[in-house]
Amino acid sequence: MKGIILAGGLGSRLAPLTRITNKHLLPVYDKPMIYYPIQTLINAGITDIMIVTGGNHAGDFLRLMGNGKDFGLKHLNYTYQEGEGGIAAALSLAEYFADGESICVVLGDNIIEKNIIRAVEDFKKQGKGAKIMLKEVPDPERFGVAEINDGRLVSIVEKPKHPRSNLAVIGIYLYDAEVFNIVKTLKPSDRGELEITDVNNAYVREGTMTWEMLDGWWTDAGTFESLLRASVLVAQSGANNK
Ligand code: G1P
Repeated sequence: MKGIILAGGLGSRLAPLTRITNKHLLPVYDKPMIYYPIQTLINAGITDIMIVTGGNHAGDFLRLMGNGKDFGLKHLNYTYQEGEGGIAAALSLAEYFADGESICVVLGDNIIEKNIIRAVEDFKKQGKGAKIMLKEVPDPERFGVAEINDGRLVSIVEKPKHPRSNLAVIGIYLYDAEVFNIVKTLKPSDRGELEITDVNNAYVREGTMTWEMLDGWWTDAGTFESLLRASVLVAQSGANNK
């Protein structure tokens, strides 16, 4: 399985912090944000990793991480996203890297307390389709929200005004190689982006999407509130604990 970290975007919700750097290079407690999703993949046994970035500061990722020596890696792969197209558009840039293998996609601003190795192993056994991870949150309207009925995933709604549950879809996704064909069928949403939620709902309709609850805390870090929360959580209990 290959790992893909999506670290592009303008980070406009964090302006002016993101005027002179990429969101994923900002500090979360004692490390740049991007270090956490890389460690998430490595802890799950995934060491063949590509970082998708973009914007004016892409070169700083290379300066910071090079070939991934800080993580014990011998090599890191990078690709560059021209312009803005949303999470699913960024993902499509990794098609040649995935090369027919299944993938674990991590949004570059998602930080977890523990690890996802069980979900990754379960997905390997599943063999095809996709798997998402869910976490109960107090503010589901900020996220993709899963509707579960009798243990069955019915649908996912992106940032619903009236969420049907408190189960956020976290930004860690497991896909088979079919994902790249699904992305090609997507149309831009109201916010003008190719939405990862539309990818996930395609698998739900196909009946090949599974889900698991995430163990331990999870946070994104794309707003001032969540960036602060991420630093506090990491300082208090550490991230990527095994
Ligand atoms: C994205 C996804 C959303 C998911 C969230 C997790 O939201 O669209 O479904 O719950 O990441 O961090 P965004 O950060 O683009 O608002």
